[in-house]
Amino acid sequence: MDIPQEIIAIKRDGGCLSRSQIEQFVAGVVSGEFKDYQASALLMAIVLQGMTSEETAWLTEAMMRSGRIVELPEITRPKVDKHSTGGVGDKVSLILAPLAASVGLCVPMMSGRGLGHTGGTLDKLEAIPGFTVDLSDAAYRAQLASIHQAMIGQSADMVPADRKLYALRDVTATVESIPLICASILSKKLAEGIDALVLDVKCGRGAFMKTESEARELAESLVRISAGVGKPTTAVLTRMDQPLGCAVGNALEVIESIDCLKGQGPEDLMAVTFELVAEMLRLGGLCHDRAEAQQRMDTAIESGAALAAFRRLVAAQGGDARVVDDFSLFAAAGWVFDLCYTGDTTSYIAAIDALLVGEAARLLGAGRAHADAVIDLAVGIVFQKKTGDRVEPGDVLCQVHYNTDASLNASLERLRQAMTYSFEPVETSDIIIDHISES
Ligand code: URA
Repeated sequence: MDIPQEIIAIKRDGGCLSRSQIEQFVAGVVSGEFKDYQASALLMAIVLQGMTSEETAWLTEAMMRSGRIVELPEITRPKVDKHSTGGVGDKVSLILAPLAASVGLCVPMMSGRGLGHTGGTLDKLEAIPGFTVDLSDAAYRAQLASIHQAMIGQSADMVPADRKLYALRDVTATVESIPLICASILSKKLAEGIDALVLDVKCGRGAFMKTESEARELAESLVRISAGVGKPTTAVLTRMDQPLGCAVGNALEVIESIDCLKGQGPEDLMAVTFELVAEMLRLGGLCHDRAEAQQRMDTAIESGAALAAFRRLVAAQGGDARVVDDFSLFAAAGWVFDLCYTGDTTSYIAAIDALLVGEAARLLGAGRAHADAVIDLAVGIVFQKKTGDRVEPGDVLCQVHYNTDASLNASLERLRQAMTYSFEPVETSDIIIDHISES
């Protein structure tokens, strides 16, 4: 056994930790033997000195084993989950889980809450009246066996090491480290009992990784570590410069997700969703080429099978499934403000800065500035125009759903900064940048 300061010193001096030193660190963090100041010192040493792939894999495994690991031997369908590194307007999970379940997969999805400018799947789901994201282990398993999908929060006995370490990283400026991000994300996903994993690694203004090269490095590392512990994994690199789809805000995003399942989804949002589900089908061994996957997904949407799967999900988790046909059952904001284009000539939207839009939504009350803030599920923004669209003087750019004048004014300031224009037509880039998997 090494004492904590010896382990810290090895990393401080640029050395490699052994598997047993990493296991000792993780066990010590959970038991309290590794004090917060010692864990923080080691985290900072890791940020500055990095970790090898081997060390990262050991850290991931030790964190995954720090609590209960779900095993689902009774589920016969391929169990495949998706994780997104987070963005603005990213409601893909709400469309993806029922769509994937309707084409033959089982999706045991455990998600998180929103923090800062990004939204969280659990908050969005809670915008559905009655929906609960807290299921007992027995109820979760029974639901997976019967309707092949569940969307819940991770229980307190799973991956306690990440809960402690993430809280420390948040307050010690040690979040930005690829090995620490990899271990944090994968330890949680690999504890879910899945057979394979698809990752949506976003890059751009509204993403955690701002540049394509940073996102690619994270994606390659995630795939290497996950495949290294025996889980077939693909990362899809996608753009997050402007919000995904048109709606930003919890209830508004659920409404947009339902529209997608009815076959009326915006192109960018459907492109990302289809790409991820196609990859889930491939890793699950249910489809061998992209065209076959697309045909199955199109049929599921056109026949209403994917929408029916969403109704089953909502009803199984206590939600009011009538929301699918009656959007008035969602909480609505008190007022809606039309933000219009004030230029005096025809123009094109050059960019909609997703980071500023995320902040605008948070200022309305849709997001959290700190982990225990209370959010307003009804407020948010719905874009009528997206990057590349032509705008005429007076056109509505977006509708702001708000509950207080102060929050509207703060939000409008960000939204006006977020939107830039060009007199010339604007070329837009493909939202799917690349796929990364173990060759
Ligand atoms: N998301 C996580 O779950 N962990 C990180 O470290 C970063 C993003």
